[in-house]
Amino acid sequence: MTQPTVTRTGATVSMKSGGYYSQRTRGAKDVIDNASGMLLDAVAAIPAPQDGQPVRIADFGTADGGTSKAAIYKTVAALRVRFPDDQIVVTYTDLPSNDYSRLFKNMLGLTEDQGNLYLNDFDGVFVQACGIGFHRQLLPDSSLDIGFSATAMHYVSEKPCDIEDHVHMVGASGAALKAFSQRAADDWQNILLARARELRPGGRLVIMNFGKDEEGRYLGHTGGVNMFDTFHLHWKAMADEGRITGQEYTRATFPQFYRTKEEFCAPLLDETSPVYEAGLRLVSAHTGVVRCPYQVAFENDPSMTAREFAVSYVPTLRSWSETVFANALDQGRDAAERAELVDEFYQRYEDMVADAPDGHAMDYVHCYLAIEKVP
Ligand SMILES: C[S@@+](CC[C@H](N)C(=O)[O-])C[C@H]1O[C@@H](n2cnc3c(N)ncnc32)[C@H](O)[C@@H]1O
Repeated sequence: MTQPTVTRTGATVSMKSGGYYSQRTRGAKDVIDNASGMLLDAVAAIPAPQDGQPVRIADFGTADGGTSKAAIYKTVAALRVRFPDDQIVVTYTDLPSNDYSRLFKNMLGLTEDQGNLYLNDFDGVFVQACGIGFHRQLLPDSSLDIGFSATAMHYVSEKPCDIEDHVHMVGASGAALKAFSQRAADDWQNILLARARELRPGGRLVIMNFGKDEEGRYLGHTGGVNMFDTFHLHWKAMADEGRITGQEYTRATFPQFYRTKEEFCAPLLDETSPVYEAGLRLVSAHTGVVRCPYQVAFENDPSMTAREFAVSYVPTLRSWSETVFANALDQGRDAAERAELVDEFYQRYEDMVADAPDGHAMDYVHCYLAIEKVP
């Protein structure tokens, strides 16, 4: 474990911008769409708005809003049926580095994706955005009816250390793993306490987070080639070959933690925890795997070559991982050199997949949580 390298996640994380994220991240959209029934359950469960207040929903860690657009459309439609006369406010939150321009273009249909434009189809719906991280309270007390978050809260608020012999906590051990575990436990408590303050009594949270399931599976590790080990393999090879320095090798540490279902549920079940005391209760929790759509397409299309599969598959990894490797590079290098090294890294991954495609897949492993604030 290298000390001290506490790095605030807000300064280093971002999805690839310009629409790259939701265009290349079909699996994340599948995850949300498959679980949109949980949002409809929340619509049915929340109390009616009072005193002329609007119904407020929020998407925490939304990226460019493209992947949740269909689910939010369904939620707004269901709210409109249940509360025909009430206004609805949708707040999208992410980090300051997020591409909010693309988010608003997605909402207005100013992109190639013209579907699910709830602003066009429903009156009395308002969209807002907040560029402050979800580890702190973002909305006023008792103002939120439904909080939603998909595939975002595995980001820890700060990287507690660099992992010296891997790029991700799934490959960490000893003191580094302990530091990440502690950071993740503290963050989860803070996230829940912030949401507890924001929620109205009777309000709901629907959260689907990357995690480790009961069989030890996690993103890109469901029986085939381990994705994070593959990232590490190529990054280490570039260090061993002198393409990057030892410091650059070590600095590439994802500020993420994959919690187990037990870790997610603990503060909601322990009657002595501050989260329980703040009024949050677990409604349901389950884990689930959503298959990698790129591998499924490859399996279903005998005419697709291994190279074509690799070219379709690696960008989905790149859409969310690139900044970790790009930011690990020495800022003394000029921008073109850094871009070239990052391209080379993903080219190595693509070539490996093209040479031997079997087992390469980024299956999504999530823990799905429904949470209520006691009425
Ligand atoms: C993998 S993307 C998921 C985006 C979208 N929710 C989906 O499911 O497709 C993770 C998102 O979480 C955001 N994120 C990471 N840490 C965050 C934080 N502390 N507060 C708010 N958003 C955060 C990232 O910027 C990114 O947009």
